[in-house]
Amino acid sequence: MINVLIVYTSHTGNTKKMAEIIAESATTAGATVLVRPAHEATNDELAAADAVVLGSPTYYGHSSGEMRHFIDHSVKLHGKLEGKVGAAFASSHNIGGGNETTILDLLHALLIHGMVIQGNSSGDHYGPVAIGAPDARATRQCEELGCRVVALAARLQRA
Ligand SMILES: Cc1cc2nc3c(=O)[nH]c(=O)nc-3n(C[C@H](O)[C@H](O)[C@H](O)COP(=O)(O)O)c2cc1C
Repeated sequence: MINVLIVYTSHTGNTKKMAEIIAESATTAGATVLVRPAHEATNDELAAADAVVLGSPTYYGHSSGEMRHFIDHSVKLHGKLEGKVGAAFASSHNIGGGNETTILDLLHALLIHGMVIQGNSSGDHYGPVAIGAPDARATRQCEELGCRVVALAARLQRA
C-alpha cells in the first residue's frame, strides 16, 4: 500500500481544489491519501509518507509563507526522506504569473530532501498549474499527477 501525503496552502480555495482532485485520483489508483493544510501537517505525517505532494498559490513567484514554514520545519527530518517520491503543483492569477517558479521553489526543497521527482514530457512539465480555480485542463493535469505519483512510488517500492 502506498501512502500519499498532500500538503497545501489555500486562502481562496483554488489550490485546495487542486489538492482534492489529486487526492481523489491517487485514492482511485489504490493509495491511502492524507490531505493536510500546511499549518496542520506534521513531520510524523511526512515521515510516514511514501510520496509527498506540495501545493501552493503563487505569491510573487514563490510559495506561500505557511508552506515555507512547513518546509523549514521539515529540517528536523533531514536525511530521513531520501528516496520518497516528491511532486508539486501551484495556482496563480495570471498566465505567466509565476506558477512554474512556485512549483520549482517547492521541488527544490523536495530535491534537497533527496526525493525522486518525475517530470512530465507531455503534460504540465513541472507539475499541474491552474489559473484561478482548476478548469478542465488543470483538472486533467491534477488527475494525471495523482496516478503518476502512486505508480512511481509503487515502482520504487518493488525495486
Ligand atoms: C500576496 C499575494 C501575492 C500574489 N502573487 C501573485 C503573483 O505573483 N502572480 C499571480 O499570477 N498571482 C498572484 N497572486 C494570486 C494567487 O496566486 C491566486 O489568486 C491563487 O489562485 C490563489 O490560490 P488560493 O485560492 O488557493 O488561495 C497573489 C495573491 C496574493 C494574496
